[in-house]
Amino acid sequence: MVLEAKDIQSNWELFLANIDSHITGERKQKLLDFYKKYEERVMLMPAAHKKEYHNAFPGGYVEHVNRVVRCALKQMDLWADEGADMSTFTKEELVFSAINHDLGKMGDEENESYIPQTDKWRKEKLGEDYMFNTRVPFASVPDRGLYMLQSHGIQYTFNEMLAIQTHDGLYDEANKKYLFSYMPEQKPRTCLPFILHQADLMAARIEFEREWLPKLKGSLDGQKENFTLSNNKTQSSTKTKALGNIKSAGLKNMLDNL
Ligand SMILES: [Fe+2]
Repeated sequence: MVLEAKDIQSNWELFLANIDSHITGERKQKLLDFYKKYEERVMLMPAAHKKEYHNAFPGGYVEHVNRVVRCALKQMDLWADEGADMSTFTKEELVFSAINHDLGKMGDEENESYIPQTDKWRKEKLGEDYMFNTRVPFASVPDRGLYMLQSHGIQYTFNEMLAIQTHDGLYDEANKKYLFSYMPEQKPRTCLPFILHQADLMAARIEFEREWLPKLKGSLDGQKENFTLSNNKTQSSTKTKALGNIKSAGLKNMLDNL
C-alpha cells in the first residue's frame, strides 16, 4: 500500500480538522500547536514498522488515526443504541482519546521511533521498510503518548488517560489490572475504553485486510517484490509542494524511496 502525496496531505488536513471541530477550551490550541510543531514527522509516520502489522507505509499513521476517529464515533452510536450509559463520558473525550491513542509511536521530542530500514537483507527479504530507532529509550506506546501530552502542557481527563492507556485491550497484558478484574468496583466506570479499543481493533483489521488479503489470495512469492517502498518509485511524481520542504534527513530518505 502506498499513499499518494495528495492523500497524505488531505489526511493531515482531516486530522487537524478533527481537533478543530471536536476539542474545546485552552487545550485545543495547545494540541494544534503541538501537532504543527511535529507536523512533518507525524504526517509521514507509518502506523507500524513491519508490513505484517498495519499501515506500515508513509502517511499510514494519520490514515489509521483518522479511521479510528470515524470508527469510534460510529461505535459510540452503536453502544448508545444498545443501552450503554453514555453519561459516563463525553464525545470530546472519545475523539481526544482516538486522536492521541497511538501518539507514543512518534518517538520523543528529538527522535522518530520508526526510521527507514538500513539493513538491505531485512528490507528485501522480510519486507521491513522501517526499523526501531535505538536512540529512543523504551516506553510503551500509551506511556510515551501520555508523557508527550503532559510535557507539552496538554491536559487530559481521567477518562482519556484510562482510554489511551488501555486502547490495546487485553492484547496488552499490562491492561489486565484495568480490564481483567472480577470486582465490580475495580472495573472501568465508563465504556469509553471499550469503544476506543473496538474502534482501534476494527481499523487495524480493515487495514490488515486491505494490505494482505489480496496478497494471500495469490502467490505470496509472487508478491514479495511489491513489499518494499523502493519498489514503488512510480509514485515519486506525486510529491507536492507541501511535502517538498521536509527537513528531517530520515524522512527525506524515506520520500526519496517513494
Ligand atoms: Fe491504533
